[in-house]
Amino acid sequence: MNESLWAEELLAKIDEKYRHVAARSADKIPYTTGKAGRFDDWSSPDKICWWTNGFWGGLLWQLYHRSGDEAYKAAALVIEEKLDENLMRADGMDHDSGFKWLLTSGANYQLTKSEASKNRLLLAANNLAGRFNLKAGLIRAWNDPGDGSNAGLAIIDCMMNLPLLYLASDLTKDPRFTQIAVCHAGRAKDAFVRKDGSVNHIVTFDPASGAVTGSLGGQGMQEGSCWSRGLSWAVYGFTLSYLHTKMKPFLDTACRAADYALAHIPESGLLPVDYAQDPALDWEDDCAGAITACGLLDLSKVCEGEKAGSCRAAAMKLLIALADKRLSLDPDTDYLLSHCSAAYHEERHNYPIVYADYYFVEALMKLADKELFLW
Ligand code: GLY
Repeated sequence: MNESLWAEELLAKIDEKYRHVAARSADKIPYTTGKAGRFDDWSSPDKICWWTNGFWGGLLWQLYHRSGDEAYKAAALVIEEKLDENLMRADGMDHDSGFKWLLTSGANYQLTKSEASKNRLLLAANNLAGRFNLKAGLIRAWNDPGDGSNAGLAIIDCMMNLPLLYLASDLTKDPRFTQIAVCHAGRAKDAFVRKDGSVNHIVTFDPASGAVTGSLGGQGMQEGSCWSRGLSWAVYGFTLSYLHTKMKPFLDTACRAADYALAHIPESGLLPVDYAQDPALDWEDDCAGAITACGLLDLSKVCEGEKAGSCRAAAMKLLIALADKRLSLDPDTDYLLSHCSAAYHEERHNYPIVYADYYFVEALMKLADKELFLW
């Protein structure tokens, strides 16, 4: 199989579908889809700060980068401007700024050198840096009502937001941002990643002393289990910190997390929500599959020997399973992948979520050698 050609053929079909989708959804910021498979919209004031609000913009930028179709760019620009409301909301700025602004303003800045986009990136990066707990050496995750109850929570997902800090150091020639990112990644590799490569979702610490006090199952099944998307954030996130810093411990940690993934990917190539869940449960997470594939593809370019080949083969297994069993190319539906789950302890499972689609397209762009690298 010619993997690059396979990816390019799929991208051409996705482009054909998304020309319709972008035309009818140009003013939306989707998270999932409704009954008819059409996008919902998270642009209203009560939803504009949601952590996933950059992914549709990022997907539009990837498609624009591939085809040059101005309609994609125009729709992406609308989303970037809508997110300015979030930038002005202290209560809506949390550790997820990388997801929101790297995929919108980061893409725009990379392609057009827009000064407004650079300004947004630096505002978001400064806010993210401000969440760093000096004693713990970790970036605080979420906000709270003002009572400090979440001041000692860090989550594995934050590894994906560190590239905003690496970018801010590049843009300003000020190493502070990178220093914070490196410190967080260094602490996270010990606090989150277990000996066998599996990960905790949430690590708790005393915000005054910085001492790590424990871990929580979070969106996974339970404390001690391994939430598949959490593992995917670790595989991709530590790979990215290695790419930005060339620090070997980050590569070693990415490899350890990848080893766990490789040993636990089911025969079907479709990932469970939690690697420890009852095999009789049919709860899946296509987001985890697509993110893990992205991480493994980048990791395969920097790890040595046989590992490079096994990472790439596992990424292909994941992507082929998603393409063959979970991909909708129907132009009447707005989603691509059908079986995502936000969390194990949620009533709803196996439905479309926008970031699965983003990472699936990103993985195909990597394979086709056309990626707009946004991390
Ligand atoms: N960053 C939250 C999640 O992966 O659901």
